[in-house]
Amino acid sequence: MCGIVAAAASSNIVSVLIEGLKKLEYRGYDSAGLAVIGSQQIERVRSVGRVAELEKGAAGTQSSTGIAHTRWATHGAPCERNAHPHVSGHIAVVHNGIIENHEALRTELSAQGYIFTSDTDTESIAHLIESVQKTEPDLFKAVQQATRRLIGAYAIAVIDQRHPGKVIVAREGSPLLLGVGEAGHYAASDASALLQVTRNMVYLENGDIAELGANTLRIADAAGQAVERPVHVSELSAAAVELGEYQHYMQKEIFEQPQALGNTLEMIGGSKSSQPGIFGADAASILADVDSILILACGTSSHAGLTARYWLEAIAGVPCNVEIASEYRYRVSVPNPRQLIVVISQSGETADTLAALQHAKAKGQAKTLAICNVPESAIVRESALRFITRAGPEIGVASTKAFTTQLAALFLLTLVVAKVKGRLSEADEASYQEQLRHLPVAVNKVLALEPAIKAWAQRFANKSDALFLGRGRHYPIALEGALKLKEISYIHAEAYPAGELKHGPLALVDANMPVITVAPNDELLEKLKSNLQEVRARGGELYVFADGDSEIEGSEGVNIIKLPEHYGQLSPILHVIPLQLLSYHAALVKGTDVDKPRNLAKSVTVE
Ligand code: G6P
Repeated sequence: MCGIVAAAASSNIVSVLIEGLKKLEYRGYDSAGLAVIGSQQIERVRSVGRVAELEKGAAGTQSSTGIAHTRWATHGAPCERNAHPHVSGHIAVVHNGIIENHEALRTELSAQGYIFTSDTDTESIAHLIESVQKTEPDLFKAVQQATRRLIGAYAIAVIDQRHPGKVIVAREGSPLLLGVGEAGHYAASDASALLQVTRNMVYLENGDIAELGANTLRIADAAGQAVERPVHVSELSAAAVELGEYQHYMQKEIFEQPQALGNTLEMIGGSKSSQPGIFGADAASILADVDSILILACGTSSHAGLTARYWLEAIAGVPCNVEIASEYRYRVSVPNPRQLIVVISQSGETADTLAALQHAKAKGQAKTLAICNVPESAIVRESALRFITRAGPEIGVASTKAFTTQLAALFLLTLVVAKVKGRLSEADEASYQEQLRHLPVAVNKVLALEPAIKAWAQRFANKSDALFLGRGRHYPIALEGALKLKEISYIHAEAYPAGELKHGPLALVDANMPVITVAPNDELLEKLKSNLQEVRARGGELYVFADGDSEIEGSEGVNIIKLPEHYGQLSPILHVIPLQLLSYHAALVKGTDVDKPRNLAKSVTVE
């Protein structure tokens, strides 16, 4: 979703802005732009499409102060007129988020004589600041006054030709952090954009406003008081966000899964016990009193939650529900203060998941746990307990390594809750721990199946629909497989629990419908085999992912790939990997933009 980069330094910053935007491309966008303090006036360049286009347009532009933006259209079509920055008189503004009262502001500012040239909510911020400046010439104070009139979520960066050398930034709801460099101060939507100049990051709180100069930085909080925010040294390495030997980030991230899982499970390396402390200092007391669990998430993260539900009920014996965050936050639900709220999010900034967490807390549900890949994110900061997955930066819009590390974290949660509830024998604990430790090796063996999966992808990339089937804890894996395929190859895909086939989707099955089946050698395999017969009898072509020891053989119309090992309760973590590879290769055959699929964003910071 929209990305912001801003810089005030002692030398030319245009290349810093462009490089920063390139690092934010993964968030999803459809146009880009930048504005700098020029020798006479604000100089602005905007373009539809890729940052590379903007770079061409900005060739020759030089300045030590500027703001830049990638836009993911919300208000108004993706076109140059709507691209940021938006200008009013001497000032230029970039914005991430949604201003809910923008129509009222537009009416008010139009009546004052301001001419709007875009359909965006952002332009009203630019005119609002310009209008406040008529009575408050101090730029910092003018932004402070203007933001008090804004309703909604935003992160903004502002420059003013009459105040060269300064950038003012503000945030409320949307992510924004500062970079403290040797010869400049910077701001961006996430740390990856600033690693090129510094590792020293300052995370702004909601309501903060900051003034950046080449050698100066001041921050005021929501009450207008001067504050110091701590400087964190980012652990992200610049190499972690480079493509290296890979063609796409999604491919890189699929193949990073053994390492990502190893890193995430590191804390159980030497020990045999599942200690509550891995979820935070208060975990033991909070978990002891928990009578049920509610998992809230969006997209792929919600599929991790759906999988965990099978584990939490079967192994820990705790009732568990999973709800899409955007539904829960607006539903009248019955609060239960003894329930543990688990929010799962790769980014930790997904607007609906954050709002669902806040909604639960407002209803008196204080037992909250975040499972998240970004330590300083809003969702982590607002939760009582936390577990940070160590997937490393995930750039591809279609989530892969974040998903499998979330599953690993949720399995650890299952073991900890089971232990707290006295439902985990020492022998079972040791056996599960052993399986977790072996996971990176097991995943590597599945990745080695890539050539066979690639051959399948060739065969159904020309299809317009696909059906995914699974049962039990592999039904959410079928859901995830279907999501991956539609996200990046644009093939319409749906997933069903195989037992539901004859209650509707069987009507769709014919020779043109590939049916991809997750068929591990578990207690439901025999039932699943009957479901496969139902498909075959209607001429449907089956693509079955089975296990090495499954008694299931290929025949005409029944294609089988066997995963090397059967992995019991943890099998979903292995079975999702061939589905990721299948989607990736189908997308390659179709020639789609794998890492930046149309209309989608990595970090959905608006509802
Ligand atoms: C977007 C991304 C998905 C992701 C979902 C939830 O839709 O494209 O890959 O699963 O948001 O994101 P989160 O960061 O909260 O896991």
